[in-house]
This record gives sequence, C-alpha cells and structure tokens, in this order.
Amino acid sequence: MEAFEAEFAAYCAVPHAIGVASGTDAVLLALKGLGIGTADEVITVAHTAVATVTAIELAGATPVLVDIDPLTYTIDPAAVEAAISPRTKAIVAVHLYGHPADLEPLQAIAQRHKLALVEDCAQAHGAKYKGQRVGSIGDVAAFSFYPTKNLGAMGDGGLIATRHADVAERVRWLRQYGWQERYISALSGYNSRLDELQAAILRVKLTALETNNAQRRAHAAEYGRLLAPTGWQLPTVAPHAEHVFHLYVIQTEGRDALAEKLRQQGWARPFITPSPSICNPLTPIWATKWAVCP
Ligand SMILES: Cc1ncc(COP(=O)(O)O)c(C=O)c1O
Repeated sequence: MEAFEAEFAAYCAVPHAIGVASGTDAVLLALKGLGIGTADEVITVAHTAVATVTAIELAGATPVLVDIDPLTYTIDPAAVEAAISPRTKAIVAVHLYGHPADLEPLQAIAQRHKLALVEDCAQAHGAKYKGQRVGSIGDVAAFSFYPTKNLGAMGDGGLIATRHADVAERVRWLRQYGWQERYISALSGYNSRLDELQAAILRVKLTALETNNAQRRAHAAEYGRLLAPTGWQLPTVAPHAEHVFHLYVIQTEGRDALAEKLRQQGWARPFITPSPSICNPLTPIWATKWAVCP
C-alpha cells in the first residue's frame, strides 16, 4: 500500500497520499481531517454521485447544495459565493464525468472566506486543470478506485491526497482506529485501510492510466464526430480543462425515447453503462436530461 501511495502521490504531484477503503471514506476522512463536523456547513453540488453528499452527512456536517455550470456539469462558483453562511467551512468541488471544475475562482472564494477547498476526484483520475493534475490544487482531494473508475481496483478502494502535512497525519490516524501509534488512539477513528491486494493491482494499473485516458479522449472525439448531426448537447471541454471522459454524457429532450430506442437495438442499460469504454468503443452513451437543483 505504501508503494502505491508514493507512486500515486508522485503521479498527482502532491506530497501526501493516504489509501483508504473507498471513495466515500476518502471524502469523509478528508472532511474529518480538516476538522469539519457538526454545526458546519459544506457547499457542494446537487448534481453528483450521492456519495459526495452522504460523506458530508457522515462527517456530521450539513450539505448545502448549489447548481452546476450547464455545459461542464461542474460547480458554479457564483452559486457557491451566494450560498456561503457564517457556518460554511468547506467547498467540495466535484470533477464530474472526468471534467475538472473551475478551481481558480473557487480558490479565490475559499481564501476570501477562509474555507477549505476539497476536490472530489472520484471520476477524474489524471484530469488536468490549467496543466495541473486534479487532486493537487485544493487543500485536500478524494479519489475512488471502485472498479468502474478510470483507475479502478478489483474491489473497493480510495485515497486522500493533500499538500498539508497536518491534515495527512490526522487522516492517517483516522483511517486506522485513530491510532497515533500502534494501540494508542489519539482520535475516534475508523477501520478504513486500502486493502494490500487492491493496492498491488492499482500499482500495475496506474502504469496504464495515461494511455487509457488518451484512448478515452480519442473515443470521445470520435463520438463527437459521429454524433454532431444529431443536434444533441454533446460534452464540451472548457479551455482550462484536460478531460478524462469517465463518462460521455449528452443532453437531449428526447431522453426516454432515445433510451428506449437504444434498448430495442440491444444497446442494453443506457443509463448505467455510461463509460466510453477502452475495451468496447461502442459502449452505449448515457442520455441525461438537464438536472438543476431545486
Ligand atoms: C463523484 C463521486 N464521489 C464519491 C464517490 C464514492 O466512491 P466509492 O463508490 O468508491 O465509495 C463516487 C462513486 O461513484 C463518485 O462518483
């Protein structure tokens, strides 16, 4: 596990990487490592995997959900600013579908209001924001290695990356019973170690991540070429972004009809087989309707 942690830290260009049992635990322990708990509010997006929000609740904090940018599907910095209250302690930016959130304005907001900036990188291993890898920009970042992810283990796994030594130390204690040293608990902790077997698998798969991400980009470009005549809203890539296309998501008013058509043509499960797979470039597309927060 330590070898994988060191290799992934080097890949992301962060000084500290701590393996944990899942991406949900990674978000949870990132927040706990920052000292966030009851009475605190954490701003994130309504449009994300439910695990982002669950982790905030598990930390004891209150999630405050804001809207996303309609083209990149990532958090809208103006909406964040409007949602800040005296109880706000952190912003969780989700790099959804593999597209990096616009981190620079978020950093400015975080600095102005003395908030922590957390990156949820569960869907964006290897993506870059203005040339820098996601996971190395915010105060702390959470990764998932669930098998379907761009970097997936053969079971569950997760990791926290941070440039803050004190946060890294607290997270290391928290992931193993709060142990400051063996059998001495300094904090109420968890059992959330990254399994050694998964870490060994991840070490091998990390060597292929760049090639796989490049293939995903190539497949996405091909989808873009083929789907241009449909008039659907295809994925856009912001100038600041190097996308890793965890999912290839389109918007269409005719979602249900399209899904049904795909189903009839044997393109099974259009809603839950979303990846432009590196194994099968004809993997169905995830058809989505525009989602906004209530
Ligand atoms: C954006 C996001 N955050 C967190 C998670 C949680 O990761 P895990 O399933 O490894 O707990 C996921 C998983 O789907 C995710 O997509």
